[in-house]
Amino acid sequence: MTNPPSNREDAAARPAFLLPQRKESQHPSILLPRTLSNAIVLREGCREDISEINALYRRLGYKGAATTSDFLLVADKSGVIIAAVRICDEVGHLVLRGMYVAEQYRFQGIGTTMLKQLEKVIENRDCYCIPWSTLTTFYGKGGFRVADVSDAPAHLKERLGQYLNDGKSVCLMKRDAVWKYHE
Ligand SMILES: CC(C)(COP(=O)(O)OP(=O)(O)OC[C@H]1O[C@@H](n2cnc3c(N)ncnc32)[C@H](O)[C@@H]1OP(=O)(O)O)[C@@H](O)C(=O)NCCC(=O)NCCS
Repeated sequence: MTNPPSNREDAAARPAFLLPQRKESQHPSILLPRTLSNAIVLREGCREDISEINALYRRLGYKGAATTSDFLLVADKSGVIIAAVRICDEVGHLVLRGMYVAEQYRFQGIGTTMLKQLEKVIENRDCYCIPWSTLTTFYGKGGFRVADVSDAPAHLKERLGQYLNDGKSVCLMKRDAVWKYHE
């Protein structure tokens, strides 16, 4: 007897990035290029960061959550996570989600530096995001361009439609894999 269809597609569609278990095993930290921010480093998030990232998300009103299947990048100020972003592998497509900087650290270049750092993670694959329409210039600094929705993966079309139905002013953006620039 065949099993009834289950909701396992989601799990299968999101192969885990190799998230470091502990902070010691992460890639070298990246110092932010600002004197003002000299106590802040960008580093790859690890499993033990997840609850702190999600607490930051909750405080900032973001309903999504970091999981062990995501690639995580965090800004760390003296051991406290003050910004986070994640790259999710969804049905074989990379999606940038949950880019949040704590209020008091905004407009200091942290978000832009994180975007540029992520380019090293996503350079060989297309990557999508569904940002606020007011932030297209910001995401443009990371190589994202407003994309044609008709070419988008089905689940992102659906997500975009839900956001728009909810009255959110968002748009679809895509960063092409680096090799496409050389076609
Ligand atoms: C958007 C966000 C991640 C940017 O991070 P940041 O560290 O403040 O960004 P930077 O200092 O590197 O760059 C600032 C740029 O962000 C953009 N920006 C930030 N907030 C903006 C807003 N409310 N409206 C329009 N542009 C905005 C601008 O392009 C600005 O560029 P400028 O300095 O030339 O004006 C941060 O403001 C944030 O966490 N906002 C709340 C959460 C959010 O909206 N996340 C994005 C979900 S799609």
